[in-house]
Amino acid sequence: MNGPLLRVEGIDLYYGDAQALGGVSLDLGAGEIVAIVGANGAGKSSLIRAIHGIEKPAAGRILFDGTDITGWPSYRVCEAGVGHVAEGRQVFPNLTVLENLEMGATPKHARPAERTTLDRVLTMFPRLSERRRQPAGTLSGGEQQMLAIGRCLMSQPRLIMFDEPSLGLAPAIVQEVFRIIRRLNEEGLAILLVEQNVTASLKIAHRGYVLENGRIELSGSGSELLANDRVRQAYLGL
Ligand SMILES: Nc1ncnc2c1ncn2[C@@H]1O[C@H](COP(=O)(O)OP(=O)(O)OP(=O)(O)O)[C@@H](O)[C@H]1O
Ligand SMILES: [Mg+2]
Repeated sequence: MNGPLLRVEGIDLYYGDAQALGGVSLDLGAGEIVAIVGANGAGKSSLIRAIHGIEKPAAGRILFDGTDITGWPSYRVCEAGVGHVAEGRQVFPNLTVLENLEMGATPKHARPAERTTLDRVLTMFPRLSERRRQPAGTLSGGEQQMLAIGRCLMSQPRLIMFDEPSLGLAPAIVQEVFRIIRRLNEEGLAILLVEQNVTASLKIAHRGYVLENGRIELSGSGSELLANDRVRQAYLGL
């Protein structure tokens, strides 16, 4: 398959009469980390939710691996290989760590290798392995974020979209989250990353897009955007 793994073409999205996204287009290659940078309310989560089929765009197309997935329900988007680690982690607090991970393996294609994937996830996150019989609600914020990432991996995605994965975490854990994202990319996963930690996200991103009021205003390599005056003033406070 030539061409990008993910292609978003001219997406419009509305909540009632309010436009959240206007003509948003972006590409993401199979080996890439792509960052989306934007202020509060710019439409970053809306973009991720539109790609995941949670919100239905009024116009435009979303192609994954060349297949038009626009308007597909979320479970089919997930089955196609698109993972989503949503804002606020959203683990099931009353289920054990293991049960939460098993919930991630619901796509048909993920079931045959569930055992192998589980071993891989527990090796990657030793803290989760130690706590596998504990209710997820007893984990620390950082551990819950690892669990949310692990649960997403259980669906064997080819692309993971992260929405503010480091929000509310202690600095040492933030570093750990970025390290994991980089490692997943090195292991072959494509990453779409929304982060309020703009410097760190542009440092690990191959490319980035700046979203303002629902429109892409700027794009470039991670280092180009880090050096861009507009980005430095608006998002880095420099
Ligand atoms: N479910 C909803 N119903 C109505 N309006 C919404 C809904 N979700 C988001 N919006 C509005 O759409 C716009 C984009 O919101 P979105 O959550 O996508 O922004 P964001 O860039 O993720 O912001 P943040 O950095 O605060 O997470 C905002 O004006 C927001 O108020
Ligand atoms: Mg958001």
